Amino acid sequence: MNRIFSGIQPTGNLHLGNYLGAIRNWVRLQDTYNCVFCVVDLHAVTVWQDPVELRNSTREVAAALIASGVDVKQHILFNQSQVPTHAELAWLLNCVTRMGWLNRMTQFKEKAGKNRENASVGLFSYPNLMAADILAYKTTHVPVGEDQKQHLELTRDIAQKFNHDFGVDFFPVVEPIITGVATRIMSLRDGTAKMSKSDPSENSRITMVDSAEDIARKIRKAKTDPLDLPSDKAEFSGRPEAENLMRIYAALSDCSVDKVLIKFGGQQFSTFKQDLADLAVATLAPIQDEMRRLMAEPDAVDAVLRDGAQRARDISEPILQEIRDIFGFLR
Ligand code: AMP
Ligand code: TRP
Repeated sequence: MNRIFSGIQPTGNLHLGNYLGAIRNWVRLQDTYNCVFCVVDLHAVTVWQDPVELRNSTREVAAALIASGVDVKQHILFNQSQVPTHAELAWLLNCVTRMGWLNRMTQFKEKAGKNRENASVGLFSYPNLMAADILAYKTTHVPVGEDQKQHLELTRDIAQKFNHDFGVDFFPVVEPIITGVATRIMSLRDGTAKMSKSDPSENSRITMVDSAEDIARKIRKAKTDPLDLPSDKAEFSGRPEAENLMRIYAALSDCSVDKVLIKFGGQQFSTFKQDLADLAVATLAPIQDEMRRLMAEPDAVDAVLRDGAQRARDISEPILQEIRDIFGFLR
């Protein structure tokens, strides 16, 4: 069976974009792949994290994944820092990747902003650690949201350069899985900006721990335009907020955007928003109940991660040993 690897950062504010663009897909792929799911705490510390919050967010993301249906017995769930393979392989890949490749990464440019000189070296080499995550398991498929596409292309380049430089056929060519209507959920305050954990406005995102009232309020307040809802995809042009809300509706109700256009086209935003809020609450409420139950038992969550880490080491350590041999390190 083919192997899936995917990761999510424990940086707080897990949101609807993470759920619809990543987590829900992971759960669905479990029937057809061997899956390794990772809470990427080493990636999180590329920008400073409060240690207490980091620990709490790591548990919260793990709880959200389990509550959403990740099967921790059939598949693997762990936090990255418990498996040293990732950091060691990242170093080796630092020596394969070219500066010019990393210089082209748009996520670094966005995250570093104007203050590039003051960004951590870790933030710059972040994509190499991501490549290490993936390649340490000889992963074949990686489900992610649209924003990670460039990092996956880089992973392919790194794998090919490694294979070429050492004259081996070692790493498989990784295929991204970027599917569905929710590969890029936008901010509720600005239809041209991605919904993100780090947006300073709380109202820009629906989080996985928001109450029913908060969800309804944020959707009620979501930015729209004065026109009625579009009834055709062509009418999305110049109306990113309308498109985003209709896409979220389609994703939550698991139907096509066309069906949503037929159902709500020509109507006012107010009734649609009420329906959308009800749908979001109905989807998230059962997951939230289960998350609360799990968060009340932190030791049990930690035990799941420790067990996952052990099984992750069992797979990745022999692969790393082969890589050390290919490099020519004595043992
Ligand atoms: P991150 O929050 O950066 O750790 O992302 C975890 C996963 O969620 C990745 O697969 C991202 O591509 C996905 N993701 C993050 N933000 C969004 C968004 N606004 N829409 C869809 N997917 C997203
Ligand atoms: N960089 C990804 C993000 O921010 C998270 C991630 C780390 C990841 N390692 C990964 C995703 C490996 C897929 C595969 O969303």
